[in-house]
Amino acid sequence: MRYGVIGTGWIAKSFIDGARQICGSEFAAVYSRTQESGSRFAAENKIEKVYTDINEFAKGDFDAVYIASPNRLHYEQSKLMLQSGKHVICEKPITVEPEELEELQTLADAKGLIYVEAIMYMFNPARDLLKDAIGKIGKITSVHFDFSQLSSKYPAYKRGELPNIFNPALATGCLMDLGIYCVYPALDLFGMPNKITACAHFMESGADGSGTAGLLYDDKLITFTYSKLGQDRLGNQIFGDEGTIKIESISKLINMSVVANNGTEKEIIGDVPKETLMGYEARGFERFIANPSDAHYQTMKQRALQVSQVMKQIREISGIKFE
Ligand SMILES: NC(=O)c1ccc[n+]([C@@H]2O[C@H](COP(=O)([O-])OP(=O)(O)OC[C@H]3O[C@@H](n4cnc5c(N)ncnc54)[C@H](OP(=O)(O)O)[C@@H]3O)[C@@H](O)[C@H]2O)c1
Repeated sequence: MRYGVIGTGWIAKSFIDGARQICGSEFAAVYSRTQESGSRFAAENKIEKVYTDINEFAKGDFDAVYIASPNRLHYEQSKLMLQSGKHVICEKPITVEPEELEELQTLADAKGLIYVEAIMYMFNPARDLLKDAIGKIGKITSVHFDFSQLSSKYPAYKRGELPNIFNPALATGCLMDLGIYCVYPALDLFGMPNKITACAHFMESGADGSGTAGLLYDDKLITFTYSKLGQDRLGNQIFGDEGTIKIESISKLINMSVVANNGTEKEIIGDVPKETLMGYEARGFERFIANPSDAHYQTMKQRALQVSQVMKQIREISGIKFE
């Protein structure tokens, strides 16, 4: 598969490395707002062509685009790429609004193109291991996920700068960046909730720096916490009446184990490098392109929409706004 890339941050490099490693993918072009940034990224990642005009980039000689720009740009850039006949894998959150996602899913289907969210959880083979383990811990009545990761941009924010991640104009903030990693497995493992509660802590910039949400089901309660202003050291737990599943990272599904009620612990999976997990995204995406009727593609489209709808509800309840 020949890709073009939008965005020149570290995550784009991680996707390129993973896709090359796992799938032998080719990277033909990069789009950047500036020649300087584009040329630096192209040299570092051995990419031939640099575009600074997005419309020219859209006509480039590649089949698929990986989009890793700030969230606010995902919709318009994905739309342009789909209209130009490119398959699209776009970083999370795939769009800001669920209505935008529905529109672009319809556009992609009409043009016979693949359009998916680059979310590690849905492409990770450990997702099946987790589902197996969940079937073995008895009745589950409570679940707690946490994604608290002290932002590398927080020192700049404290110095008075406004990094993109804390700028609501770009539809960023903690829920959109980290909370989404809790919403995905909750809906994928347990379905849509009956009721949602949520609240957020806001920074002076107006961005949510941390937050919490509760998803209530007939038979269980799932709670999340997420923060960009502090670092989690305890991880995630799924509580069954016959055992507990511990998960170090809910985004990567690494270092997972089952602890029986007698205290015996059994590993489900250990560590997996981030590049490998990103490579799995490329592998799944390329598989969908080869076979658009792949059942997992249909699941991913539905799950992305459900997640986007629940994220919108959490934003509304918490008062998270992007104007
Ligand atoms: N999967 C993961 O683990 C993971 C990790 C991190 C981020 N992400 C996702 O990846 C996306 C990018 O995140 P990031 O932290 O890399 O973002 P970022 O650094 O703020 O921006 C990414 C790139 O977009 C361009 N850009 C920056 N500000 C812009 C603006 N105001 N208008 C237009 N373009 C702008 C820049 O490239 P040029 O200057 O070269 O144009 C920059 O390198 C987000 O959607 C995020 O959620 C995913």
